[in-house]
Amino acid sequence: MKKNRVMIAGFGNVGRGVMASIRNNPDMELVGIASRSPERVKKELKDAFPVYKLSDVSAWSREVSPDVVILCGGSKADLPQQGPELCKYVNTVDSFDNHSRIPEYFKAMDDAARSSGHVSVISTGWDPGIFSLERVLGNSFIPGARAYGFYGLGPAGGLSMGHSDALRTIKGVKDARQYTHAIPEAVDRVRRGENPALTPGDMHSRECFVVLEPGADPAEVTKAIVSMPGYFEPYDTTVNFVSQEELDTVYKGFPHDGVVITAGKTGADGAHSALAEYRCAWGSNPEATANVLVAHARAVIRLAAEGRKGAFTILDIPASYFSTLSREELLKHWM
Ligand SMILES: NC(=O)c1ccc[n+]([C@@H]2O[C@H](COP(=O)([O-])OP(=O)(O)OC[C@H]3O[C@@H](n4cnc5c(N)ncnc54)[C@H](OP(=O)(O)O)[C@@H]3O)[C@@H](O)[C@H]2O)c1
Repeated sequence: MKKNRVMIAGFGNVGRGVMASIRNNPDMELVGIASRSPERVKKELKDAFPVYKLSDVSAWSREVSPDVVILCGGSKADLPQQGPELCKYVNTVDSFDNHSRIPEYFKAMDDAARSSGHVSVISTGWDPGIFSLERVLGNSFIPGARAYGFYGLGPAGGLSMGHSDALRTIKGVKDARQYTHAIPEAVDRVRRGENPALTPGDMHSRECFVVLEPGADPAEVTKAIVSMPGYFEPYDTTVNFVSQEELDTVYKGFPHDGVVITAGKTGADGAHSALAEYRCAWGSNPEATANVLVAHARAVIRLAAEGRKGAFTILDIPASYFSTLSREELLKHWM
């Protein structure tokens, strides 16, 4: 079997998850890694794979000729710059997760991918990604119902990597983790079918655990966090300062969970309740996100083989394009 040639651009938690996921997908082959810090990656991987300098894309894209590159940079500062640049040279897939900025990111990627003749699937993972699809399905199948996403349903909450990444870009922050908590009263109202008009801050609160750089001012850092537009400003945000040791031992790992709930009524007189829930609980958010990215990498290759160009999201792709199963198998066993 000819394997799909996949590269990883950006090697952090999601990048490591993609490397592991490729091993679990026999139709995929990792042919190289591009990074802004190739020496760090080479050291970690002990030269198991070729590592290239990210900015040398014009050279490595010709030398390696990957079918698709999985972009694993951070959403806040890396992908808005790297995505439109890389998709001039290669087909890409990424997990850009700054929801309020998806329309502008889509446009930048669509313009660059169309004019270079590539396919770029953007903003996939579990949310945005599979939860985006579930929101659209819920709203389509229960007309008039809103679809709500809640995260961090348990007492510990769920670790948001995008928000942790955003915290680490703030001056004075050495390291940080952000836990999202669903507000239980809001979940109950949605499940009762009230279809309430909830603001983001009505649904979740945010809890930050921050290690300061030596000499950083905690008040300044707190102000920068709670006023960060999109990420923290709309929420009730708590900032806790901890030592690096405490962060590494107490707040380790990447657990996350969430549910998309759509509730409404059916029938001409709306007599019957209708409730659809789609739940994910991940022991490792980056590994789960990586699995979704790798399945979308398969879809990118299929779209490109059809001669398609431009940016796509999970909403635009048939589910069969994610699967290794044949049409016959899908029709026989999975319908
Ligand atoms: N859609 C979803 O459901 C979903 C879910 C989870 C995460 N995400 C997104 O995925 C993004 C990446 O998450 P992540 O946890 O992989 O971020 P991360 O570990 O901070 O890595 C981000 C980038 O930072 C660089 N980096 C990582 N470790 C480094 C180190 N020790 N020294 C220097 N540079 C380092 C790497 O780029 P270089 O190799 O180029 O240096 C890497 O690509 C997040 O921003 C989030 O937006 C999306």
